Amino acid sequence: MKLTVNDVEYEVHVEAEMPLLWVLRDELGLTGTKYGCGIAQCGACTVHMDGVAVRSCQVAAAMAEGADITTIEGLGTPEALHAVQEAWVEHQVAQCGYCQSGQIMQAASLLDVNPEPTDEVIDIVMSGNLCRCGAYPRIRAAVKTAAKKLQEA
Ligand code: FES
Ligand code: FES
Repeated sequence: MKLTVNDVEYEVHVEAEMPLLWVLRDELGLTGTKYGCGIAQCGACTVHMDGVAVRSCQVAAAMAEGADITTIEGLGTPEALHAVQEAWVEHQVAQCGYCQSGQIMQAASLLDVNPEPTDEVIDIVMSGNLCRCGAYPRIRAAVKTAAKKLQEA
């Protein structure tokens, strides 16, 4: 089947029901997306499907056919970071880092649908992405900074 990931079209030979997460990591070598729980509970595997945050451990490869998939590797580039990535660096959000690509993808998706989220909305949405290191105060601050950056852009 053909999958479009980060604007590149790939031909992959996998079972239709293989989770997109495995396709990304094991077939395409895009290991920025992490495996945490495999049961839609942690958000470590969050990517965008047609611009919307999804748990890639719960998306069958066949369901991703025809969609535009974006992973952390395609959100920005080292030379031109996405506003969320810039804000993450400014606030030094990451501790161990394991949850962070999922957090960033979730935050970018949130700001797409809600450019000015309140603290409460940020906390509710981002708490769906588990961070064992408890980076939530920095996550909230970084989301607010990213929102400002996007509005000024
Ligand atoms: S690995 Fe997908 S939600 Fe945890
Ligand atoms: S930074 Fe360690 S789990 Fe979130």
